[in-house]
Amino acid sequence: MSIYCPPEFPNFRLVCHPLLSHKLTQLRDVKTPKKEFNELVREITQLLVYEATKDLPMEMIKIQTPLEVMESPALAGKKPVILPILRAGIGMVDGFLANIPSARVGHIGLFRNEETLQPQLYYFKIPKQSEDRQFYICDPMLATGGSAIATIKKLKEAGVSRITFVCLVAAPEGVKKLLEAYPDVPIFSASLDRQLSDHGYILPGLGDAGDRLFGTK
Ligand code: PRP
Ligand code: URA
Repeated sequence: MSIYCPPEFPNFRLVCHPLLSHKLTQLRDVKTPKKEFNELVREITQLLVYEATKDLPMEMIKIQTPLEVMESPALAGKKPVILPILRAGIGMVDGFLANIPSARVGHIGLFRNEETLQPQLYYFKIPKQSEDRQFYICDPMLATGGSAIATIKKLKEAGVSRITFVCLVAAPEGVKKLLEAYPDVPIFSASLDRQLSDHGYILPGLGDAGDRLFGTK
């Protein structure tokens, strides 16, 4: 797995791997049915999580192997929090939990007003005493950046400072807006697409992620 950081977007980490590219191609294909779409979102997320979590703090702990006592590295500090943006972010949660089963899961409910493209908040729940925890916001799509920015604002108001954004497909317009608003928040993505359409869809993209995950179209 390798990482590419475009010079114009120091906040952006493009995760590159042949398996990831292949799965993303299948995900974009309009012929991919709902079941496979869900499986691919989970598998791609699992691959992204390796890179997105590589700076988690570690500590040495003492354990007993069947043969002797040893000091061995383990994750340190409070459990991280996965924060899916409803609805589509839900599709990424199992990919995170496969790698970090003890992570806590918060929820934020946002939908885009299809005319103004502005995010509307309808739900927010995170663990108590979240200030010291690492948060991983997940949403398959970073389009205008409005939903991501509204989520980060809510977390910062709650005192959270360690925030990473993980998505599958990003538009340059959204990455730029996020960089201007929150340059301290790294974005991990499997793709940086060409542009946004006039209706705020990512091109070439994969369509409406929520509708494809849940079969609501
Ligand atoms: C989609 C997507 C993101 C948001 C991205 O959600 O899952 O949350 O749009 O767009 P933005 O970067 O322009 O804010 P949508 O509002 O369609 O809601 P849904 O997940 O319930 O389908
Ligand atoms: N939300 C989606 O689900 N898809 C897009 O292309 C843009 C926003």
